[in-house]
Amino acid sequence: MFVNFRWIRKCQCVQLMTTCLVLSVVMVCWEQLDDGIISHVKSYSYRYVINSFTYINKSLTIPREQARSFSNFRYLLDPRDKCAGKDVLLLLFVKTPPKNTERRSAIRSTWGNETYIQSSLGVTVKVVFALGSPKTKEEELSWSMRGGVDIQEQLIHEDGLHGDLIQQDFLDSFYNLTLKLILQFHWMHSRCAHARFFMTADDDVFIHMPNLVNYLQDLSNRGVTDFWVGYVHRGTPPIRRKDSKYYVPFEMYPWVSYPDYTAGSAYVVSSDVVDKIYQATLTLNASLYIDDVFMGICANAVGLSPQEHIYFSGGGKAPYHWCIYNQMMTSHGHVEDIYDLWKEATHPQVKQWTSGLTGGLYCTAVKIALLCNPFYVNGYPCKAAFL
Ligand SMILES: *[C@@H]1O[C@H](CO)[C@@H](O)[C@H](O)[C@H]1NC(C)=O
Ligand SMILES: *[C@@H]1O[C@H](CO)[C@@H](O)[C@H](O)[C@H]1NC(C)=O
Ligand SMILES: *[C@@H]1O[C@H](CO)[C@@H](O)[C@H](O)[C@H]1NC(C)=O
Ligand SMILES: *[C@@H]1O[C@H](CO)[C@@H](O)[C@H](O)[C@H]1NC(C)=O
Repeated sequence: MFVNFRWIRKCQCVQLMTTCLVLSVVMVCWEQLDDGIISHVKSYSYRYVINSFTYINKSLTIPREQARSFSNFRYLLDPRDKCAGKDVLLLLFVKTPPKNTERRSAIRSTWGNETYIQSSLGVTVKVVFALGSPKTKEEELSWSMRGGVDIQEQLIHEDGLHGDLIQQDFLDSFYNLTLKLILQFHWMHSRCAHARFFMTADDDVFIHMPNLVNYLQDLSNRGVTDFWVGYVHRGTPPIRRKDSKYYVPFEMYPWVSYPDYTAGSAYVVSSDVVDKIYQATLTLNASLYIDDVFMGICANAVGLSPQEHIYFSGGGKAPYHWCIYNQMMTSHGHVEDIYDLWKEATHPQVKQWTSGLTGGLYCTAVKIALLCNPFYVNGYPCKAAFL
């Protein structure tokens, strides 16, 4: 009886101390907690309980004359006949700043090689680069570094060789990415509306073109419409920390959650969607500079939601392995390794090695080890190992 009593007191004491400890930790870390957990909880509940974003559309709708200010920039480079007279399966925009000449050149000779795609995969894919105008500071910098050749002249020269640069005269900067997004939808609408799919990608994304083409051909044969695929962000809250690159002020976006959207690193939509998004950009306030979130707002305005593809990366690198190459669509963060990855990922023996019962079992085991590892984040989800 006595022992029991003491035991209970000890228990209560431990409880009390734990509570105090937790409370003090919470108090000390309140700010971070609020930014991370609380806003996510709020935003998730919002997304799943209220699940209505119609007022966003209403409050961001502005008169057409005003909305035009986000799109009526002069074209500095405009390969208007790029798609003419061809049955284009995919029009693929790569978002690239003027200075990234090497990345564009790497893309042209690897996954973005139109000649290769035509001859090996038997379809027409058009790869174009979306640019704004160069920064003055960069212009000066490049002047001294490139022996006096102005960066805009370099671009004109590059376009003369390849004919694949699309440029408008807004300043190319992170905070103008939404203008670049609008440029892409408007260009496809007016110059390449017959392409069956639209894609947008960062210039450090690796795209497994043979896998993507297979996938899109299949979808095209089934005549999909209202199609939007990528790595989906659901119920994401706006970031209110001023030191973040993605900081969005309350005045710009007062709600606790963004509509669902796909990661801007790479996503695909069908051509009917391009038309709808184009229409939405004619009446929406495009001041929100996070381009993939703005895409979500446009889609929300036309009643469209994205679907998930587990082999579209959410910002991380795919593991280097044949079992992954067999199914990968996109992977993010590749610059120096792009040539090697392209060679490896499209090696004819990948399909051979990974097929059959043994190949399948082996690859499942490998993928579990690679993707279900808790230290592997932002790439493909663990469940991809089982599909
Ligand atoms: C593109 O592919 C073709 C055919 O495979 C090849 O001949 C050509 O050299 C490649 N282009 C580049 C820039 O690597
Ligand atoms: C966006 O582009 C416009 C037009 O060139 C320019 O006036 C503005 O400063 C740019 N905004 C940013 C944040 O770079
Ligand atoms: C668009 O939104 C921005 C930022 O919220 C605001 O400053 C601007 O006045 C709005 N534009 C129009 C035409 O309402
Ligand atoms: C968004 O607003 C536009 C114009 O006000 C309207 O035509 C459209 O139906 C709205 N969309 C939704 C999903 O409410």
